[in-house]
Amino acid sequence: MHDLIVIGGGPAGYRAAEMAGVKGLKTLLIEKGEVGGVCLNEGCIPTKTYLYSAKLRDNAANGKKYGIAVEGVQLDHPTILMRKNKVVKTLVGGVKRQLKQAGVEMVLKEASIAGRTAEGFEIRCNDTLYTGKRLLIATGSVPVIPPIPGLKEALKDGIAVTNRELLDAKTVPKRLTVIGGGVIGLEMAGYFSSAGSKVTVIEMLDHIGGNIDTDIAKILQKNLEKKGIRILTGCKVTAVKQNRVVYEDASGKNETECDLVLLSVGRRAATEGIGLENVGVQLENGAVKTDEKMKTNIPEIYAAGDVNGRSMLAHTAYREAEVAVNNMAGETDAMRYNAIPNVIYTAPEVAGAGETEASAKDKGLDFTVKKISMRFAGRYVAENEGGDGIAKIIADNRNKRVIGFHMIGGYASEIIYGTCMMIDREMPLKQLEKIVFPHPTVSEIVKENIFQISESV
Ligand code: NAI
Repeated sequence: MHDLIVIGGGPAGYRAAEMAGVKGLKTLLIEKGEVGGVCLNEGCIPTKTYLYSAKLRDNAANGKKYGIAVEGVQLDHPTILMRKNKVVKTLVGGVKRQLKQAGVEMVLKEASIAGRTAEGFEIRCNDTLYTGKRLLIATGSVPVIPPIPGLKEALKDGIAVTNRELLDAKTVPKRLTVIGGGVIGLEMAGYFSSAGSKVTVIEMLDHIGGNIDTDIAKILQKNLEKKGIRILTGCKVTAVKQNRVVYEDASGKNETECDLVLLSVGRRAATEGIGLENVGVQLENGAVKTDEKMKTNIPEIYAAGDVNGRSMLAHTAYREAEVAVNNMAGETDAMRYNAIPNVIYTAPEVAGAGETEASAKDKGLDFTVKKISMRFAGRYVAENEGGDGIAKIIADNRNKRVIGFHMIGGYASEIIYGTCMMIDREMPLKQLEKIVFPHPTVSEIVKENIFQISESV
């Protein structure tokens, strides 16, 4: 008998299990693949390893204006693939060690909920039945496979792949067509373009990057195009005919030829085959319905991470896991989604948190926006010849607090968390003005933005 059984060993599952173990709960973690989930094994970490190599290559190749002249810089994909595997192995090993230290029992098999008895929930793993007083569903998400004619066949033949297969590809395709200009599509387009692929991104909406700030989406598109990536917006893919991708825009049907197709049109909660129906867990829009304590409709069953479909990001999953375990331990804790950072690790990087102009408008908020050039930050100018980055702050006019911050430029991913604190903790602009930022840093753009908007709200 376990106090807690966690199904799924990704960021939500391993964080919850570790925390529960530390809190003294007898915890079992069951994972059908490898601990670390999509994030560590086939998502965030592999991609960041790839993109770091791409950045080094691009910096060297474009070094002339900085006084660095190197001829024929090339990216060595097999070495990068090997290094990626090493990085993943190191981190997965680290997570396993932490779980062990926390006293968590681990089973690497597929689990499904068999039912409920007076003792607790019964979880089946092949021939073994485990019983847990509480359950945490953390089964993550899977790629959306839309009903595009020919796509299933192309996926079967390996002409079309998802990020999982692409991150293990041994060679660099000469021509790569990316269906979907969201986060995965853009990050992969960036790497493979640096690696020498001729990349085309086809995006259905009139902008790339999903819900990011619209001005930033335009700047990002310009930068990626400058790098040589062909970006088609307002184009809906309607068929895949082996190595030809057919799309429709306002002018009619068109097609593009390639050697490999990456499908990146979103992910959906992984709720099938885990026996949720055997205990009556309620779904909403295909995801496990949770409240702000990460509780499902069944007492003692919680769900955290992508499976609840709220904000499909690893860092949200961590926090949701913490909220779930704190509530299991009788502590008061609730999830807040108002300041979750969004990052796209392209070059330049994009990061944002809180309201965008569009979402603030939709909600009818009374707000002020200040958009400034990243060139207000001295270090940005020193490091970005001809850089066109911007930073945008959004403040609530009534309580004079920051409700949104968005930027495009180097280090954005590392800077954004500071603004998350400002938004989440609802710190008044007058207080924020008094914070000393290190100089010279790109982060000073936040200080400049705070000063400029303080004068206007
Ligand atoms: P996404 O939702 O970010 O983007 C999918 C895009 O595909 C959308 O812009 C959509 O308009 C477009 N699309 C859909 N059907 C289409 C069609 N038939 N033709 C052309 N375009 C079409 O999904 P993505 O990129 O697959 O990422 C999945 C998840 O992974 C996201 O929820 C994201 O949170 C997570 N992720 C996060 C990363 C990060 O935080 N840096 C990195 C990679 C993934």
